Amino acid sequence: MANSFPLDLTQRPRRLRRTASLRAMVEETVLRPADFIAPLFVVDGKAPPDEIKSMPGVFRLNVTDLVKECRALHKAGVPAVALFPKLDPALKDDEGTHALNDDTLVLRAVRAVKKAVPEITVITDVALDPYTSHGHDGVLNQGRDDVENDRTVGILGKMAVLQARAGVDLVAPSDMMDGRVGAIRRALDAAGFSGTGIMAYSAKFNSAYYGPFRDAVGSAQAAGTRLLSKATYQMNPANRREAITEVLLDDAEGADILMVKPAGMYLDIIRDVREVTRKPVAAYQISGEYAQIHAAARLGWLDLVRCRNESLLAIKRAGADMILTYFAKDMALALK
Ligand code: PBG
Repeated sequence: MANSFPLDLTQRPRRLRRTASLRAMVEETVLRPADFIAPLFVVDGKAPPDEIKSMPGVFRLNVTDLVKECRALHKAGVPAVALFPKLDPALKDDEGTHALNDDTLVLRAVRAVKKAVPEITVITDVALDPYTSHGHDGVLNQGRDDVENDRTVGILGKMAVLQARAGVDLVAPSDMMDGRVGAIRRALDAAGFSGTGIMAYSAKFNSAYYGPFRDAVGSAQAAGTRLLSKATYQMNPANRREAITEVLLDDAEGADILMVKPAGMYLDIIRDVREVTRKPVAAYQISGEYAQIHAAARLGWLDLVRCRNESLLAIKRAGADMILTYFAKDMALALK
């Protein structure tokens, strides 16, 4: 039968898209500056900010400039920063020994930030990759073909205590070893840091999109090869049910915030996690996600600002309560 016009429709969803004010009234997801956590890279010395090639607008900062950046973020309404040190290669070894030094770069950075901008929440990574010469997140077994779980967990507990002592608000185990959240919780409590929280990288996938980050912190070099595989500890990108297993374990072991990483390609996982836990869910829009948007914008193929906004909105809509993103400051300023 041929259609007769106008169509005899009762339901016309377009009615509520007709004007800007109607569209604003029915908007379901809204971003705000407090949604964001800014990952920041810190280096030793006094060198001026050093831009990471594959991450336009992201710099390795010395401690003084890092403090300035934290002030600017606080002013922009960003509540938290996640600090990542890039170490002098001379400090790295097979066992990541330097991670247990009580005056490492990241600990000095934490103390400086907490002193200058006490209001900002400071988060530090608990993982060995900045400290190991092979770039893995833990220590290797005797055959040197895998990361040794339990010995690594012992080291991570000690690292977390050092970070808590330096004044961090949240420690963030990003290593994906089994049992590390529980071990870190016990180590923190035993050392008198029951108030220090754990933001767990719970469902962290073995992603190709970490590339620019590994360049930024110099962890890309696996014992002479460029292809560092973390497949024996990070999750297979194919697995959805397993992500729930990981998240529920971290929840039960005492994590305060549960994270999914990467974010944009794992929106289904973010939604699953949102539905299985009552705790806050974080998502990490990683370096490769950021790099992709910038690269396409540079070529004139995508609009930077609109793609930035849409990528973050999608992550929040999927169920993230907070988003780690290299766009944090720009986005917060744009929302002011
Ligand atoms: C490692 C760590 C990684 C990131 C944060 N912590 C990379 C990796 O697992 O190799 C990636 C963040 C990003 O790509 O933006 N502990």
